[in-house]
Amino acid sequence: MSGDKYEWLIGNPPPLLEEHSRAKHAVLRAYLRRYIEVLTSNPTHDRLNLTLVDGFAGGGLYTYETGLAPGSPIIMLNEIAAMQAEFDLARRKPFHLNANFIFVEKMASSVEFLRNEIATGPHAKRLDQSAHIINSTFEEQCSTILEKVKSRGRAHRAIFFLDQYGYNTVSFFSIRRILTELEHPEIVLTFSVDALINYLSNDEAFLKGILPTGLTRDDVLHMLQIKSEQRGWRWMIQHFLYERIVALTGAPFYTCFYVKSPESHRSYWLLHLSTHPKARDEMGAQHWELHNHFVHHGRAGLRMLGYDSTRDNAQPELDFMFQFDEQANTLSQSALLAELPPLIHAICQKNGTSISVGELYRTICNQTPAISLQMSDVLVALRQENEVQLLTAEGRPMPRATKLDWKDRVQITDQPTFFSFRPPAR
Ligand SMILES: C[S@@+](CC[C@H](N)C(=O)[O-])C[C@H]1O[C@@H](n2cnc3c(N)ncnc32)[C@H](O)[C@@H]1O
Repeated sequence: MSGDKYEWLIGNPPPLLEEHSRAKHAVLRAYLRRYIEVLTSNPTHDRLNLTLVDGFAGGGLYTYETGLAPGSPIIMLNEIAAMQAEFDLARRKPFHLNANFIFVEKMASSVEFLRNEIATGPHAKRLDQSAHIINSTFEEQCSTILEKVKSRGRAHRAIFFLDQYGYNTVSFFSIRRILTELEHPEIVLTFSVDALINYLSNDEAFLKGILPTGLTRDDVLHMLQIKSEQRGWRWMIQHFLYERIVALTGAPFYTCFYVKSPESHRSYWLLHLSTHPKARDEMGAQHWELHNHFVHHGRAGLRMLGYDSTRDNAQPELDFMFQFDEQANTLSQSALLAELPPLIHAICQKNGTSISVGELYRTICNQTPAISLQMSDVLVALRQENEVQLLTAEGRPMPRATKLDWKDRVQITDQPTFFSFRPPAR
């Protein structure tokens, strides 16, 4: 899919910014800010090397309501400049956000538009110095980009924003390469899951389009079979795709929630793929912060997709919309209250010891929309119920603490109540 709807021509008004794109821009902006806050929390450091890649950059400007709004490459430049200005004001010791930007865009006219947009704006000095615009496809540039990131030091801090229009322009093997070759990569990928399902077919044209992603002919046949046979087929195909994406990319940590799309019934996923549970936690936190933009079609607690492939028609009967709002928060907490004790019990029995809060979150984070803060609140509630004991990293009991650190530890009490056997909330 070329994305002709997104074409920038100097002299013409830029494309319209739709609400669902505003949602992903809001996440990009908020996540970048949070990412930098977390990585610069140590006041003794004096620089952060970071590469920001926009693999599907577009022209950098949109028409929005009666005015204009920045596109993703300009949002990246703006956010870094704003944070640098904040450091300049707040820090006594100079701090340098040493950011490199790589913007890849396939359409020559859009490249020209973006060049012009940067050259005539506040970031002009960066052009061709620390902000590079490449007229090419992301796939063609992926190896070169990886080498550039590696050449900037050993930490390899890089965020890849892969905002493809559709579902088949990014290969999952490229994502696997990014995740395995770099030390600290993060990827934000858009994936139009509903469009894929709507076009699903075993004709050659569809297969030719989908195979470069890494999905196979067998995957397509399997999805078609689900579609022809199963009740709740759409949901089951989504679940299958989700599992395949995780397997093909090899992502150790991930979120995969829907961006609400008021303009159309076709929803897309905003996937965040990373190598660290802290990154997953921070992205999860953005979904809760920007709750009016996101929706999760699944359960609240662990096993968020609530699907058991050994049983037929195991789709959960969802009678509410999980929108990362107060209702979803309440449901998440009550689901975790019921589901965590047996899990902690099993882990502690297996290890013969306690588990750290961070390790517990690492164990559950891919299976739940909850973030570590919500999990910690539930652990504190479970301590009140005498279900678990909370300890410092050194093993000292914490009978009153209400905020937990990832180094703190949890262990099951000698006499757990029957509290843990309450049925989980949906
Ligand atoms: C949805 S727009 C993204 C806009 C931008 N990320 C933003 O939010 O402002 C997708 C852009 O990717 C470009 N494109 C399509 N296929 C591409 C590819 N394989 N590599 C790089 N750019 C591509 C399109 O020309 C279009 O400008």
